[in-house]
Amino acid sequence: MRTIKLYDTTLRDGEQTAGVNLNSTEKLEIAKQLERLGVDVIEAGFPAASPGDLEAVKQIAAEIKQSTVTALARSTKHDIDAAWEALQDTPHPRIHVFLATSPIHMTHKLKKTPEEVIALAVEAVRYAKQKFETVQWSAEDACRSDYPFLANIIEQVIDAGATIINLPDTVGYYTPQEYGQLFSYMKKHVPNMDQAMLSAHCHDDLGMAVANSLAAIEHGADQVECTINGIGERAGNAALEEIAVALAIRSDFYGCQTRLHLKEITYTSRLVSRFTGINVPPNKAIVGGNAFAHESGIHQDGVLKEKSTYEIISPELVGVASNALVLGKHSGRHAFRDSIKRLGLVVEDAVIDSLFQQFKKLADTKKEVTEEDLFALFTDQHMQL
Ligand code: KIV
Ligand code: ZN
Repeated sequence: MRTIKLYDTTLRDGEQTAGVNLNSTEKLEIAKQLERLGVDVIEAGFPAASPGDLEAVKQIAAEIKQSTVTALARSTKHDIDAAWEALQDTPHPRIHVFLATSPIHMTHKLKKTPEEVIALAVEAVRYAKQKFETVQWSAEDACRSDYPFLANIIEQVIDAGATIINLPDTVGYYTPQEYGQLFSYMKKHVPNMDQAMLSAHCHDDLGMAVANSLAAIEHGADQVECTINGIGERAGNAALEEIAVALAIRSDFYGCQTRLHLKEITYTSRLVSRFTGINVPPNKAIVGGNAFAHESGIHQDGVLKEKSTYEIISPELVGVASNALVLGKHSGRHAFRDSIKRLGLVVEDAVIDSLFQQFKKLADTKKEVTEEDLFALFTDQHMQL
């Protein structure tokens, strides 16, 4: 089985979510939890962006011992020096240098020719390599780049010392098939590609970030970059928890594993949500409040008979105590009886039918019938007897 490295960028790309600003104490707390979760790499921040971020990366670097800690740098000596300063105290430092390679970015943003971009990338990687043993290089907007040009610049940055090559879908433009093909193309056309590891980094503008990341894995990526709860710029990044659980549940298909302690997923998700102030939608895969809740009678009946009828992930796997049978208008007698039992109430067979009718009437007026509602129905009936 291949082991896929999980590179968490919650503290860098995730913090680029509109309206999010984590202080250094919050960043450190999240970093410690990411280490407990077992991520291979923590991208702690962008030290050149602000003195506060430099300080936060420094604190994380001083505390994190198992995971690799990395920091982002543009292709300038100033940024690389700032990353070096911030990462002094970590046992496994890595720098992440990036430069845009698409015609759109080179023309309008960088205002440089392709030749100038190659020279700048090589110079930055050479400079970074004088300080860092491990240099990761990213081709920003890789997906809208010219493939032969991209292959050429990748070959040259590997020669200059980069050992991890990241191909970001910066604007979330690609489909899984296209993204997979990009990785196959680079594997085939970059002559020294065997000297570096390929990494995927996907944004979710078209809702395909996780599918794209998985496609990249199928086509040779050994590292995936992602964030907790999928937070990040615009529509966000690929969600770490979705990728990790998909690889675990469908190891028969992907033939891959990760080093993640999956039981820590739910707590990590809640911690990130609390510190960032970004709520997790109830229907979000793996960590949404409804991810293990069954509402309809048919589903509830199935799950009560045998969980695997409607559950492909056991809640315990990701640190949730149990599934939930939510009582609503679609719920059936079976789940109703089960809820009554869970509440510790004893209802004789003779009255269960009328109680169930009252429950159905109430369910028509509410989105969810709560434990308090059930208890009230029960006591009302009891008092009438
Ligand atoms: O999306 C992107 O291209 C990035 C790079 C800086 C890696 O976040
Ligand atoms: Zn990004």
